[in-house]
Amino acid sequence: ESLSNSVQELSKKGYNEVPQRYIHKEVSSTGGIICASAPLLDVPSIDLSLLISPSPAGVEELKKLQSALNYCGCFQATNHGMSNIYLDKVRQLSKEFFALPMEEKQKYGRSADDLDGYGTDSVLSEHQILDWTDRLYLTISPEDKKRLEFWPENPQSLQGVLEEYVMKLKTLNEFLLKAMARSLNLEENCFLQQYGESESAAIIARFNFYPTCPRPDLTLGVKPHADASAITFLLQDREVEGLQVLKDDQWFRVPVVPYSILVNVGDQVEIMSNGIFKSPVHRVVTNSERERNTLAVFFIPGSEMEICPVEKLINEENPRMYKTIKDYVSIYFQNYQLGKRPIDAAKV
Ligand code: SIN
Ligand code: FE2
Repeated sequence: ESLSNSVQELSKKGYNEVPQRYIHKEVSSTGGIICASAPLLDVPSIDLSLLISPSPAGVEELKKLQSALNYCGCFQATNHGMSNIYLDKVRQLSKEFFALPMEEKQKYGRSADDLDGYGTDSVLSEHQILDWTDRLYLTISPEDKKRLEFWPENPQSLQGVLEEYVMKLKTLNEFLLKAMARSLNLEENCFLQQYGESESAAIIARFNFYPTCPRPDLTLGVKPHADASAITFLLQDREVEGLQVLKDDQWFRVPVVPYSILVNVGDQVEIMSNGIFKSPVHRVVTNSERERNTLAVFFIPGSEMEICPVEKLINEENPRMYKTIKDYVSIYFQNYQLGKRPIDAAKV
């Protein structure tokens, strides 16, 4: 069976079944059925404007940040400084791009051995079950890794709006790395120092488009994984749910909160925090009714940075959980391809 170069086109054909390459046969012990109706996860909501306040409410919010990241590794950020209209404008970029005719999108088509550009799930192995999704993957930083030939000219505002949005997230990323350190009573720069200079850090934007799927019981929009980043910012679809988080061996739905930004820590913050902050394992389910658009922006320490658990978090009760590692993204992909949980490779 030949591989489709767009799940969106496949979906448009209106088949009742999906090709073998997308089918998960051993997803659960209950007969291979993917359950979209999992219980709802109570994802804490954090008011960012309170995190620098010395008031009792500020101290309380900082505690809440710490417990959220320890409980489920993610939170819904509110009061992030971006208006509803602005977030809808960012969402609109994705809607307009994926609505373009195929020939137009193909101008930005990703080649098989590349990440940047428009395309389907990257095929890393012959046995891989494919994700029911199309993506537009754009490296934003470092500047010299930016591949402008993959940046769509249509919608015309894409480049400007995306760059502006990412600049805002860059400020939030630094702000949150500091707040996370303070929430653990650490010197506020200790995570930021490991993250490194913003010139060398990698920032990647990924527009995810999930077409409707005739067999949501057998397919996934994204397979279970944890992120390789330090922090990931996810602008969810304003209406359509799909993201699930694994907690205590059970899948939970992440609710849609239209104008919050979902923030999750990735493996690199789990390592720096010696396992106190949990990099959540998550997946995306499909549905047969409505397509879904999301935008994930990943903040990743430069490949030359050494990442390790902060010394002050290691003691007799809490022994060191992770080794000192460098270029975690390479370690991540090597292990991911082998079907292993990448962060296990960093365990002492
Ligand atoms: C991802 O984790 O890769 C995507 C999450 C989403 O689109 O909801
Ligand atoms: Fe992810």
